[in-house]
Amino acid sequence: MTGTIRVRAPGKVNLALSVGPLRADGYHDLATVFHAVSLYDEIEVAEGAGLQVMVSGEGADLVEPGPANLAHRALALLAERAEIRPDVHATLVKAIPVAAGMAGGSADAAAALAAGAALWRTRAEIDLTSLAADLGSDVPFALRGGTAVGTGRGERLTPVLCRGEFHWVLALSRTTLSTPAVYAELDRLRGDRGEEPPPPVVPDDLMQALRDGDARALGRALSNDLQEAAISLRPELSRVLEAGTDLGALGALVSGSGPTCAFLARDADHALDIAAALTATPEIRSVRCARGPVPGARVVTSG
Ligand code: C5P
Repeated sequence: MTGTIRVRAPGKVNLALSVGPLRADGYHDLATVFHAVSLYDEIEVAEGAGLQVMVSGEGADLVEPGPANLAHRALALLAERAEIRPDVHATLVKAIPVAAGMAGGSADAAAALAAGAALWRTRAEIDLTSLAADLGSDVPFALRGGTAVGTGRGERLTPVLCRGEFHWVLALSRTTLSTPAVYAELDRLRGDRGEEPPPPVVPDDLMQALRDGDARALGRALSNDLQEAAISLRPELSRVLEAGTDLGALGALVSGSGPTCAFLARDADHALDIAAALTATPEIRSVRCARGPVPGARVVTSG
């Protein structure tokens, strides 16, 4: 019998997020560049009677408990596919902000899949990536990590050549945003303007900046179609973005559907300077420094 397994999975920022029209299934076609950053949720699993997931850490009170929890759903789905009883007790320790555009719930699902597979030693034929896509659009990326282009609803991944390391400052908001609400706001804004969104594309200058490891060029190329919608719902985000830009960030954008804002720094020291100065901004709850890209869900201890 295996003892305790601990897995960590990273949060992400979208370096580009190009959103196409609303599809008949309620999703939007995307072309996005996911970038995993060094802010991790951890899950610890051990065999136990029945399926139980406890949540602690950053924003734990905002996390859906019980069978609706994404880690819970991931463990139940894996056990079903492996045709075993889901007798597992899990503890999630959150550091990725909840409902904040950094795919924390997706990281929890990815971590739970990796932890369950290690605990139960599931057969290699069980494809965790396809289970991940069933759990959410961003879950396959949280399993894989690194930097990757996402298409479809975000679940179809192609790795991106990315040289070197980038240093980020993440400004955590006092409020949360619901992803479906932000997509709906974008559709509303586009509808009001009578705009037909073009097919989503990943910008060439961004891909070139990543290949070159050129932080300045990357800063200029960052883009997010959801930013306008997030700001429409949370106007104070403009002030947060402006504060980071005034402090010399090479680039600033809303992370995913927000409200977390991400700032690209020249190097680790510059990130620390920006982070320290940003703490004075009243709209910001707290600030984190992170680097990317980092790997996806990984076992950190077992035994
Ligand atoms: O796939 P996931 O469950 O994470 O998506 C949450 C919600 O975000 C969807 O129900 C949908 O409203 C929105 N979404 C979207 N288009 C995508 C991804 C998510 O409209 N490509």
